[in-house]
Amino acid sequence: MHVVAVLNQKGGSGKTTIATNLASDLQRRGHRVALVDADPQKTASEWAARGEDTPPTFEATKDLSTNIPALEGSFDIVVLDGAPRMTELATDAVKAADLVLIPVQPSGADIWAAEDILDIVEARQNVTGEPRAAFVVSRAVARTNLADSVQDALEQYGVNVLDSRTGHRIAYPEALGAGLSVLDTGGKAADEVEALTDETIELLTNSNE
Ligand SMILES: Nc1ncnc2c1ncn2[C@@H]1O[C@H](COP(=O)(O)OP(=O)(O)O)[C@@H](O)[C@H]1O
Ligand SMILES: [Mg+2]
Repeated sequence: MHVVAVLNQKGGSGKTTIATNLASDLQRRGHRVALVDADPQKTASEWAARGEDTPPTFEATKDLSTNIPALEGSFDIVVLDGAPRMTELATDAVKAADLVLIPVQPSGADIWAAEDILDIVEARQNVTGEPRAAFVVSRAVARTNLADSVQDALEQYGVNVLDSRTGHRIAYPEALGAGLSVLDTGGKAADEVEALTDETIELLTNSNE
């Protein structure tokens, strides 16, 4: 079982959007996917309850170190949707994760805010060499200098920056509010999520070699 944790203590960075769409796409591709909602605001759980083909979704705002292993055997991939201000939970999530995806909106303040989760990831990597981590640029406005300079700024942290990103598109909030993924509605957002899923699978597969 692989565990992908979507983490960043900064609220509104795009965690739930990425977690719900990634989980949906992985399920479409035939993986047995569980979505773990670690946010007391329960946005992912509400999304799942609203939709018809949404992945099995579990609320776990604590005890991740027992809740995630309990899914072993029943699921191939766990996608964990993180919460704001969750230092203790973030530490447990990073321990459980094979891969940490860190959504970051293209602004200086958002990049600085990501240092909190990076510190936790690096502390764990120093002990075990795991987990892998990668930034995902979230809500990028196409072809702006800002989006490119964000790429440069993020690379300076020595963490992968995925080639795939989410653009600033109305399709994302629409799908989230309707219990859908952007794969149900199609268009450019669907292409973005498919590219993100491809890259995620590649990182998970390589980490086993
Ligand atoms: N790529 C995007 N384009 C447009 N709106 C987005 C995008 N990503 C997220 N949003 C919207 O921004 C808000 C915050 O995103 P969310 O995924 O809930 O962040 P987090 O879980 O990190 O708090 C939500 O209303 C969501 O629909
Ligand atoms: Mg959220």
